[in-house]
Amino acid sequence: MAKKPYYITTPIYYPSGNWHIGHCYTTVICDALARFHKLMGEEVFFLTGTDEHGQKVEKEAKKRGVTPLEFVDPLVAELKDVWKLLDIGYDRFIRTTDEDHVKCVQRIYQKLYDKGEIYKSEYTGWYCTPCEAFWTEGQLKDRKCPDCGREVALQKEESYFFRLSKYAPRILKLYEDHPEFLQPKSRVNEMVNNFLKAGLTDLCVSRTTVKWGVPLPFDEKHCSYVWIDALSNYISALGYGSEDDSLYKKFWPADLHLMGKEIVRFHAIVWPAILMALGEPVPKQLYGHGWLLIGGEKLSKSKENARPELTDPYELVKRYGADAVRYYMLREIPFGSDGEYTTERFLMRVNADLANDLGNLVSRTTAMIVQNFGTLPPCGKKEAPDLGLEEMTVGLFARVKDAMDRLNAPEALEAIFSLVDRANKYIDETEPWILAKDPQKRERLGTVLHELSKTCCTCAVLLKPFLTRAPALILKSFSLPEETGFEWLGSELEAGTNVEKLPPIFPRIDVKKELAAVEQLVKEKSAQKAPRPSVISSASSSVISSGGEAAVEKSQITIDDFSKIELKVGEVIACERVPKSDKLLHETVKLGGEVRSIVSGIAAFYTPEEMIGKKVVVVTNLKPVKLRGVLSEGMILCAENEAGELSLLSPERAIESGAKVR
Ligand code: MSP
Repeated sequence: MAKKPYYITTPIYYPSGNWHIGHCYTTVICDALARFHKLMGEEVFFLTGTDEHGQKVEKEAKKRGVTPLEFVDPLVAELKDVWKLLDIGYDRFIRTTDEDHVKCVQRIYQKLYDKGEIYKSEYTGWYCTPCEAFWTEGQLKDRKCPDCGREVALQKEESYFFRLSKYAPRILKLYEDHPEFLQPKSRVNEMVNNFLKAGLTDLCVSRTTVKWGVPLPFDEKHCSYVWIDALSNYISALGYGSEDDSLYKKFWPADLHLMGKEIVRFHAIVWPAILMALGEPVPKQLYGHGWLLIGGEKLSKSKENARPELTDPYELVKRYGADAVRYYMLREIPFGSDGEYTTERFLMRVNADLANDLGNLVSRTTAMIVQNFGTLPPCGKKEAPDLGLEEMTVGLFARVKDAMDRLNAPEALEAIFSLVDRANKYIDETEPWILAKDPQKRERLGTVLHELSKTCCTCAVLLKPFLTRAPALILKSFSLPEETGFEWLGSELEAGTNVEKLPPIFPRIDVKKELAAVEQLVKEKSAQKAPRPSVISSASSSVISSGGEAAVEKSQITIDDFSKIELKVGEVIACERVPKSDKLLHETVKLGGEVRSIVSGIAAFYTPEEMIGKKVVVVTNLKPVKLRGVLSEGMILCAENEAGELSLLSPERAIESGAKVR
């Protein structure tokens, strides 16, 4: 029977150099999903690659006196090295400079042009070079790029336009008819409220001032707009429109495009519109994940050396191994939300789960078997604790599958580690070291160790999508082949098979010592100043030094720190939208005898009418700021779930405004 196809993609990466773990996040998740589906017996095509055209590469290459290709080649090689280090098992690494991709982009443009979906006009707009994005005047934030906050430049030129505007109703309908299309749900709200509701404008899809791009087949003076070039990779990699489009026929539409939340709008609006215009099906699902943050800010090239956190994947893998780095990303960051990265949290997580729980379980089990039996002892009569342990195993695969079907690797890992945890408790309950002292209890000891061996192998098999080294080592120590897959789950182990003592697979880290060593290393690295070239050169050194030592992250605060925050109950007595903003509401809030003006980013979740009369919790001693020209003298507190949905915090019983919150 033909295998079910599964097509999964990462975004293609800007060849920026200075690769950091933030970059690795999307691809590690995709890799785990790809491995999971392969283990499910599906035919998987996992695509990743690099997005190499555009103005910023052209400019950087010129600055260095090399051709754009000479500039990007070593950066692409570096990224491939990072993927190798992290055991990323992609099926194709596409480069937008690949000949088949370039030809495909030209075919796409020609087809759109022939169908009248592209027309010639003149473009005037604000362009952000690092983001390769055009913005209208109204979309700018403080006259800067609303995405990255950097300078934008006014550009005017003859351009071709794609009739994006006419697709707004179809895209809205797509979201409505297929709620699974764009996940998490909060991203749909963002797209609808920030872009689609107001209607779309046609998209400028060609440049005459940029030469480093794909020349348009019907007008060679023009080069493709990088985002059309980049998005096309998802189908060019499958040979769309070429003589051999068998991969396209097999794998399109994609099962999943995974990406960071900042590029959802290109994928959820522009990409479906292009596909609709081409008359092709849209992908089955898009997922916009959150970011790895450092000190509350997106981990990015310009900031990575600003704190004593190690973010370089080479260094991390060298020190702790690929499994530890993969595990941290897959387990620790709540899927769909942002997650703060600190070296301390990384070390604690790796120590607790991998070194202590998993590592100990396997090394204790194998050591006791080798010491007491030499080979795997048979399973005798089962007792209550054995049945308790087995019960945990039943249904575990279904839980893992359910979590992975929802793309939730942290939840899948939590389920697997609940078995690891249970098995360690089983050791405490059954006390095999005491059984070993009593020759009468030899059969019981054998049963306990047999049960533990099965559990170790079950965990190893279930961990295969997430960890690429440890599962094979564990299986091998119980004489199971490396390729053992999900079909093995529920099988018995044969008594008498050879068992090898497995030394600790994850050495325990002395966190205090390691933190000091890492801090020293990061200091040395920042002294050497960014060893690898970076395309985004706008990262000024002042940004790097302004974080510095002062910005050391602490995961815990004292009660004194907390008492510095003044919290009060406020009553919203008036509320309106902030003009030209889809996110902000302007509230007038009564705090006892005082009235304040507060701006909050909750417009996607509450209407002004709903807000009036609400009792809320306000941080009252924040320094006042102006947001979009409106004074904000405090902050209203909200809870945010993993999907990015907000809920206001309100006192549970009636209480007057101005009451202190402690
Ligand atoms: N070239 C575009 C994508 C075009 S796809 C048709 C691009 N490239 S990127 O290099 O900037 O980003 C690649 C991926 O890395 C994105 O999914 C992005 O969200 C992710 N990350 C980069 N920094 C990140 C964090 N700090 N945290 C999590 N992921 C982030 O955008």
